[in-house]
Amino acid sequence: MNFPLFPREASDVAARTDWLYMGLTAITALMIMIIAIPSVYFIFKYRRGKIADRRPVKLPLLKIELTWTLLPLLLMLGMFAWAAVLYFDIERAPPNAMELFVVGRQWMWKIQHPEGNREINELHVPVGRVVKLTMTSQDVIHSFYLPAFRVKQDVVPGRYTTLWFKANAPGSYHLFCSEYCGTQHSGMVGRVIVMEPEQYQEWLVRGEPGQTLAQGGERLYRDLGCSGCHSGSTVVRAPPLEGIFGKPVPLQDGGMTTADEAYLRDSILFPENQIVAGYTNAMPSFNRRVSEEQLLQLIAYIKSIGSETPPEPGITEASK
Ligand code: CUA
Repeated sequence: MNFPLFPREASDVAARTDWLYMGLTAITALMIMIIAIPSVYFIFKYRRGKIADRRPVKLPLLKIELTWTLLPLLLMLGMFAWAAVLYFDIERAPPNAMELFVVGRQWMWKIQHPEGNREINELHVPVGRVVKLTMTSQDVIHSFYLPAFRVKQDVVPGRYTTLWFKANAPGSYHLFCSEYCGTQHSGMVGRVIVMEPEQYQEWLVRGEPGQTLAQGGERLYRDLGCSGCHSGSTVVRAPPLEGIFGKPVPLQDGGMTTADEAYLRDSILFPENQIVAGYTNAMPSFNRRVSEEQLLQLIAYIKSIGSETPPEPGITEASK
């Protein structure tokens, strides 16, 4: 009989999540039995009018109190620790992830590979590789849900959220939007196609990717005039962007921030919000002038110029 209670376990995280779920259910069921079975028994034993020994009983009260306080406390803390470890593993992507980008909109998922391939409602990935998604929305809140990998993350307009998974078997898996986002929310579905690495390479080439994400970003960087100020040889002084990704950035107000995806995005859209120490508020806002996809391309480009040029001496490397 085919009666699956759970979706397939297509990753290690999925198996661990199911173990946790079963474990919590088992502990809960045990506690219910410990409390409920004696309760029912006593209801009948001491029912009004029934003959029973009702004299007060002398009990070692302190011992009982300590036992039923400490045992459940340890049990609960154990459950907390178990779940917390798994939670942090799900939240933090392991290093050397393959980084893809997702833009959600009413009502579709748009996916960009760094090699330049684009897909809609389909996500091709190689098996056994950590895949990290950086996601944002063009309109309302969506939620990216992969039941077979037991991962789900809200996709929110105006900010980046991330999600990672590592498929352990080739196949086709459901992709759902799990946040009500309008009339066709239920149709905002797709699939993840997990392929053998060689097949994935073939798929990438077959897709005629054209320019990579970073190359697209480089073109935008020129077309939008970013290079006019952000390169060393120009008159208007703007912070150099080579090697900036992932580094700490000193701000004019004395604070510090890190040049991550969110910082780069905010700096392109609302440059006046965070001025880099030593510079003036000279940059125009690109809010409503670049799409979410173009932003991702620009960020991919800025990330890509990290390794070629050493970072400016003004930017500390304290984080290393
Ligand atoms: Cu998008 Cu529901």
